[in-house]
Amino acid sequence: MDRYAVIGNPISHSQSPFIHSQFAGQSSQPMSYERILAPMDDFAGVLRRFMQEGGKGCNITVPFKTDVLGLAEVLTERAELAGAVNTLHLQPDGRWLGDNTDGAGLIMDLKRLGIPLAGRRLLLLGAGGAARGAMAPLLAESPAELVVANRTQSRADELAARFARFGKVGSCALDELAGAFDVIINSTSASLQGDALALTESLCHPQTRVYDMMYGRDETAFLRWARELGLEHRHDGLGMLVSQAAESFYLWRGVRPDVVPVLAALRAKLE
Ligand code: ATR
Repeated sequence: MDRYAVIGNPISHSQSPFIHSQFAGQSSQPMSYERILAPMDDFAGVLRRFMQEGGKGCNITVPFKTDVLGLAEVLTERAELAGAVNTLHLQPDGRWLGDNTDGAGLIMDLKRLGIPLAGRRLLLLGAGGAARGAMAPLLAESPAELVVANRTQSRADELAARFARFGKVGSCALDELAGAFDVIINSTSASLQGDALALTESLCHPQTRVYDMMYGRDETAFLRWARELGLEHRHDGLGMLVSQAAESFYLWRGVRPDVVPVLAALRAKLE
């Protein structure tokens, strides 16, 4: 039985064991997947122990995704670009590969939802770790433009400058946004604090599609804003969660799981 895990702090809320056990069931993979709580001051020790005990791979979650950068022996290009690792994989040569499947998970979910990106005006709200992981994958879809808007403008400017070589990128402060966008993606953690972003109606046209990387039992403040504007196409990030897990599973097991039934089961579980 091959051993996998998710390591974070806190970790009890993690849905990853549920998702991966469903994936494993689809193709009868002989694997286990557990939650591991790492103390804030000993993530490296916990990870080392997991590796020494014969772990084959793991997911790394908040707040350790950047700590892993220096612990993985090899990094994928997308992990380097994201500046964070969410997946570790033991290679046949015995080295640990650090990867980041979050951006790929976002794109997979946008495609599942039929949200067009090529030639469209995209707005990314937020400029933290979640936004950084989304930049290169979004730009690879050839949007007409990707604008990053953040409460602290300097972080949006830095992100835009870092990814300018991948496509047309703009940046501004949240309260300076102008023009309408075809797709608006929220990567800020404002919802977690119950805060609504101060966004104006002029950012949207009737067909604007909005996507919140956050999810929860209750509608997020961002999606409530969109509903109150009368926007029809509104989606939370549960599909991204399942899709980034599917990408990790594929890396580990070489099998692409079917995300649709697992997403439905997870949605039902959370309601
Ligand atoms: P993550 O890894 O989840 O992206 P992060 O790196 O701490 O977390 O980034 C959080 C993002 O949410 C940032 O863009 C942050 O804006 P600032 O850079 O100005 O701090 C944004 N954010 C958090 N709370 C917010 C709020 N109440 N209103 C607007 N933006 C908020």
